[in-house]
Amino acid sequence: MIDLKGQLHVVAGAGGGGIGTAAGVLLAQAGATVLAIDKTDIGCASAAEALGAHGAHHRIVQADLADEQALRAALESAAAEAGPLRGLVNVVGGITSQDLIAPLLGEDAMTAFDRLMRFNTVPTLAASRAVARAMVAHRQGGSIVNIASAAGIVGMPYGAGYGAAKAALINLTRTMAVEWGGAGIRVNAIAPGSIATAKIGRERFDGGTDEKDRAAKAVVPLGRRGLPGDIAGVVLFLLSDLAAYVSGQTIAVDGGMLARPPYNDADGLPVFMTDPALRERLLGD
Ligand SMILES: NC(=O)c1ccc[n+]([C@@H]2O[C@H](COP(=O)([O-])OP(=O)(O)OC[C@H]3O[C@@H](n4cnc5c(N)ncnc54)[C@H](O)[C@@H]3O)[C@@H](O)[C@H]2O)c1
Repeated sequence: MIDLKGQLHVVAGAGGGGIGTAAGVLLAQAGATVLAIDKTDIGCASAAEALGAHGAHHRIVQADLADEQALRAALESAAAEAGPLRGLVNVVGGITSQDLIAPLLGEDAMTAFDRLMRFNTVPTLAASRAVARAMVAHRQGGSIVNIASAAGIVGMPYGAGYGAAKAALINLTRTMAVEWGGAGIRVNAIAPGSIATAKIGRERFDGGTDEKDRAAKAVVPLGRRGLPGDIAGVVLFLLSDLAAYVSGQTIAVDGGMLARPPYNDADGLPVFMTDPALRERLLGD
């Protein structure tokens, strides 16, 4: 039922081998022409390889989303060949170990905060502005999907700037949806939980012991970490006409993690339920 044939969709941050790359591939499989943007050589090469398997008509553009001129030129040139721009996925963002700071009161915390706030909001705003301008001009509307995070919904100890920036992105999503809704532009966000990604050219935070892996899975009701394809599927839905009346929303795609009460202990019972007899009766069945 989802057919994006004849539609041009942009993936901003397409070459990390994770969510952006998976979204580009799924869009291509749904018939879209994909304009993949990445700022690094390795990112462009990885996007080209992934999309190359789905036709030669996709475009790979090496550009920094902070460069508004380069971005507009890339969009105009792609639209001239591939038709009106109908969708955008904003993937750029994240946190590195350098920006994980133990005490919020520490010396480097302000620098990390500033860097995380910029990295997780400015490229998305820049790309969204450029794409929305094009959508307003062609008068056919379109859809924008911002990749936020579960960390924008709950607190983010050791990564205050990341959590605050993703929360800002969720709010920015609402503002864009309201400001641009009259032009037929829908804007939504996805808040992924923990997603196992390839991280091409990037560091990883996982790869620990089996015990740590088990503990990580235990906080997810579906019992596993997410995969890039889990996010790409919801991106495709939001970009398609199946979501024609959805705008301003943030959808958590987290295996149910955020639905889990934070006050449950490892048994799955509330820590406040301290009566041993009651605990035994409930756990016994
Ligand atoms: N993996 C997770 O567990 C998880 C959880 C929640 C949210 N997220 C979010 O998902 C996104 C990451 O998705 P991914 O795994 O596909 O990404 P990634 O970080 O692996 O790749 C993103 C790509 O964007 C490119 N890029 C960075 N800055 C750019 C710029 N200014 N202009 C153009 N390109 C730029 C990079 O070169 C990279 O190839 C982030 O926004 C992150 O916060 C991830």
